[in-house]
Amino acid sequence: MSTKASVLTELEQNRVQAISGENLAQRLGVSRAAIWKAIQELRSDGYEIQSSPKVGYCLASSSDLLSLEGICLFLKDRTLSDRISVAGEVDSTNGIAKKLAMEGAPHGTTVIADRQTAGRGRRGRNFDSPSGSGIYLSMILRTGLSASDSVLITTGAAVAVARAVRQVTGTEVSIKWVNDLFFQEKKICGILSEGIADLESGGMEAVIVGIGINVRRDPEEFPEEIRDIAGALYNREEPGVTRNQLAAAVIEQVLDVAKGLEERAFLQEYRQRSFLLGKEILVLRQNGQEPSLALDIDDQGGLIIQRQDGSREILHSGEVSVRPNS
Ligand code: BTN
Repeated sequence: MSTKASVLTELEQNRVQAISGENLAQRLGVSRAAIWKAIQELRSDGYEIQSSPKVGYCLASSSDLLSLEGICLFLKDRTLSDRISVAGEVDSTNGIAKKLAMEGAPHGTTVIADRQTAGRGRRGRNFDSPSGSGIYLSMILRTGLSASDSVLITTGAAVAVARAVRQVTGTEVSIKWVNDLFFQEKKICGILSEGIADLESGGMEAVIVGIGINVRRDPEEFPEEIRDIAGALYNREEPGVTRNQLAAAVIEQVLDVAKGLEERAFLQEYRQRSFLLGKEILVLRQNGQEPSLALDIDDQGGLIIQRQDGSREILHSGEVSVRPNS
């Protein structure tokens, strides 16, 4: 690890307490000049590092930069770090992960960015991905599941993100079928899964799970057209966990859920967190919106609905919304 990376690790580990240059130099076995140089490099990377001659260096609480070193600190399984890459700006992490998957990148390979210039959402939409606000992350999963069971990956990922949010922030978020996460009635996370088919076996060679979480953002920072529905875990000035900590938890929770997809144990939690169940909803059809009742989630992650004529249908994909005043 470079001196810069080691200094960053020490500062992340001692977030609340300043640490002197001398102490850092001793711990890392380098000169004080090397520490000073590393601090300058980190500052020019954008880290806000407070320093005072008596107490030393400290990462400002507002400093929330995504970095591999910062994420690794919070990984229980440090060996995962070999499969994680962190970028400043990319077009779409899903696009990059897809390319890596086609080149043979292993299960668990993760691409994270601070900003996306062409973040992709479901149904061809754009996913607003500004810098310093969110986590835009794509994971390559090679679960060996059949194409039909692969849909469970998306549902599983929604549960995994909800678990990660609870684990590090203590906040409970709910799920809107298929894979949107809501906090205080606002969408704070969207998930886009894209499969790479294995033409020989008819199964899935890999699935790219793309997760976008709005971590720290004020309402007026969202584009006007989504301001009514989009939200974030924290307001801009609100103290809270860092993006590194949340990203580490998301990666580990997704890998954990991916291990047991076939057993479907996570589906019970998916149902419990689903705020649509029992509600009057509108199903978006080609020719308009159809009023229905959301009954349950089946074992494939499909939404069981009851139409107004009493007939039932299982939706495996699509768009629904809660009926106003229901
Ligand atoms: C949606 O809500 O419509 C799904 C949004 C998915 C956004 C994530 S951000 C990381 C990954 N890269 C992308 O281009 N999209 C997904």
